[in-house]
Amino acid sequence: MVDIKTIVVLGAGLMGNGIAQVAIMAGYNVVMVDVKQEFIDKGMASINKGVNRLEEKGLLTAAEVLGRIKTSLDLASAVKDADMVIEAVVERMDVKKQVCKTTMDNGPSHIIYASNTSTMDITEIGEDCGAPERVSGMHFFNPVPLMRCIEVIRGDKTSDETFQITMDVAKSLPCLRGERYIAPVLKSRPGFIVNRLNAPLGIYGHYIRDLAYEKGIPWEQLDADYAILKAPMLPCVLSDYVGIDTSYYGALYYVEKLSPDFKPGKVITMMFNEKKLGRKTGQGFYDWSEGRPTPDTSIKAGLVDFDIIAAIRMNEGCRLLEEGVVKSYNVIDEANMAGMNTPGPFERGKDRYKELIKKLEEFVALTGKTYLTPCEMFKTGKFLEMA
Ligand code: 3HC
Repeated sequence: MVDIKTIVVLGAGLMGNGIAQVAIMAGYNVVMVDVKQEFIDKGMASINKGVNRLEEKGLLTAAEVLGRIKTSLDLASAVKDADMVIEAVVERMDVKKQVCKTTMDNGPSHIIYASNTSTMDITEIGEDCGAPERVSGMHFFNPVPLMRCIEVIRGDKTSDETFQITMDVAKSLPCLRGERYIAPVLKSRPGFIVNRLNAPLGIYGHYIRDLAYEKGIPWEQLDADYAILKAPMLPCVLSDYVGIDTSYYGALYYVEKLSPDFKPGKVITMMFNEKKLGRKTGQGFYDWSEGRPTPDTSIKAGLVDFDIIAAIRMNEGCRLLEEGVVKSYNVIDEANMAGMNTPGPFERGKDRYKELIKKLEEFVALTGKTYLTPCEMFKTGKFLEMA
């Protein structure tokens, strides 16, 4: 089995610099590659800040850890002496395929390419690179140093060795908030586990946000509906945090791969067109110019039905079981907790699933969103045998 010593992290953005930080903390030599020096400088500033903060806490020696990272603007030369590439570039299939091929054309014959795509098919990313058996997925959650989950994805052609090495590297990367949870994704299906589980909430979210907009209800009142969940971030804050463009492109991907019902709603489309992309542009649902907003949640909109949310997530989790993406609903719940710090749907919902099915059927009848129709695994209760 290949011994991974040097990792090229491709992309110095939010995800890339987080991955590079945890990789140097784990002891790997890292070359962080991007297309412009200003992106590299921004990424390095963030890594320096994070590592220095940890030195202040007495957890590491910054000079030693930072001594393990180099940067480059040239992927082809950076991969020459590398054992692995972890790619975190823009969510575009053509770009991902291109950099995967550049890796395989220029890297040593053992090099492994792991994509941090949020949704895209690992098999397709590797199909033209000449070595699809050495292509896998490694999906991190934002912010990488603080979120415990990494999903490791097997494409149709990924070899057992590549999958195992990717699992081992994922396990070796430290997390600052508890132990890493590595979720094996047995089939490359859109959104893998956590994003897929929550993707159809987008259908509900678009519906509710458009409704709130039509009624002139402020976003903080809509977020106030969710305060009861005590999640680490309210939904509109989280959408801003992740990026409105990410949600928008994600929705379009699901339209293409799963159903037209995922079409971005009026509100998200308007924000995308006006470049109100959230934290990265300073304005999204909220104003981020002075840091993370803390919405006043004293007045509720009263629009959100949590039973429908629970039903949508359980139904999608059942689809993941049906499609063979995972073998157990516990993995789905655990991955969601580790990836988003919120509980998954099964533990809480499994004992009243029949009631939830009824609610979901009513919602489908009201909105015509047939993608949400309860699947066989959910309707028959067969998922209960897959703990
Ligand atoms: N290096 C070193 N230390 C760091 C650091 C870094 N890079 N980043 C943060 N820290 C430190 C902070 O300084 C702070 O230290 P302190 O306690 O000594 O002050 C500590 O870590 C905690 O940081 P925060 O105060 O920011 O942490 P919070 O307690 O506010 O929690 C959070 C932050 C974990 C992000 C929490 O708000 C949360 O769980 N939010 C939900 C995030 C989420 O759902 N992410 C998933 C999004 S979906 C996704 O990513 C999928 C993709 O495909 C799009």
